[in-house]
Order: sequence, then structure tokens, then C-alpha cells
Amino acid sequence: MIDVRERPLRPLPSHRADLEGVLLDEEEIDLQVRRMAAEIRRECPGWHCVIVLNGAIFFAADLLRLLPDCTYDTIQVSSYVGQSSNGKPQIRKALSKPVKGRKVLIIEDIVDTGQTVRFLLDHLRRSGARDIKVASLLSKPDCQKVKVTIDFLGFLVPQRFLVGYGLDCEEKHRTLPFLCVVR
Ligand code: IMP
Ligand code: MG
Repeated sequence: MIDVRERPLRPLPSHRADLEGVLLDEEEIDLQVRRMAAEIRRECPGWHCVIVLNGAIFFAADLLRLLPDCTYDTIQVSSYVGQSSNGKPQIRKALSKPVKGRKVLIIEDIVDTGQTVRFLLDHLRRSGARDIKVASLLSKPDCQKVKVTIDFLGFLVPQRFLVGYGLDCEEKHRTLPFLCVVR
């Protein structure tokens, strides 16, 4: 895991008034996703992955290409309004396949307060998953309210709102290929 909490932002390739700068560029994300995939291949071969929509889809698409034999399903959990969590995660889209008796890897974009991952761990356990691990590209350790273990983590990021590489701010900036800080 790489700690980029103190790192100065880099200039945007083209000016956008609502974004302050680039925190992580494509090359750096790619390198870290590859490192995470190597670890997951060793520790979770052939596991069933649960992608947390919508934010984690870029990360999941890049990661899963490097995880032969894994299967995947998607779930959507939502607790966010604008830039803050209301703290009550709810299932917006349920899993399509049962997880009973399976080894499940949660694929998440970012762990902020930890409430979403906590909720998912409880939900999957209640649904009969045999073993559960968590892979998250990003974590904001200074915002964590609920203690959750992230088994595979890409970057520790500052207490700022991030967009790009699947992350949005009210549906904006999701499709940027790099991660930026919102002004
Ligand atoms: P938590 O439940 O507070 O840990 O929030 C987790 C979810 O909030 C993530 O899956 C994201 O979808 C969203 N989130 C948290 N921080 C950010 C951010 O900086 N940018 C975009 N989405 C975020
Ligand atoms: Mg998410």
C-alpha cells in the first residue's frame, strides 16, 4: 500500500474549474492494481468477487482481468448524498447469485467511514459466505468511524473528496481515467 496523504497535487491535463488537481495518474494506478492482483492471485485463487457498484467498476475491470478463475457478481449499496454519507447503507441492487458456502472477495473503490464495507461484511456473512476478504483501491484512514480490515489495499488517501476512475461527485467525473481532488 502507498501512502499519498501528504503528496502535492499535480496539474490537470486540461483545466476544470471544479477540480483542484490530480492525486493519482493512470500509470501509478495501473502499477498498484497489478501489485494487488499478484497478491490476490496468491491468497484468493478462484474466489467469487462481489463488485460494489458503481464506483468500483473501473478498478474491478482492471483487477479481474488479472485474476484467472475468479467469478464475479455485482451489488449496489448506497448511503451517499452529495459529498457526505448519511451512514445508513441500503441495498439498491441485490446479488444475482447465492454466496452460500463460497469464498467471497469484496471489490470496493474506497473505504471512507467504513460503514459500507461493514454492512457488506454482515450481509455476506448472513447470506452464508464461508470466508470473506476485502480489496479496496483507496482508503481514507482519517475518516474511518467503523473498524474494518482491508485485506488488499492500494493507496491511503487524504481526507478530501476524490473523483475519477469510477468515483463520482453527484454522477460527475466518473469517466476520468485518473483520480482527482474536488475543489
Ligand atoms: P463509507 O461507507 O463511508 O466507507 O463510504 C464508502 C462509499 O462512499 C464508497 O464506496 C464510495 O462510493 C463513496 N465515497 C467515499 N468517499 C468518496 C470520495 O472521496 N469520492 C467518491 N466517492 C466516495
Ligand atoms: Mg463504492
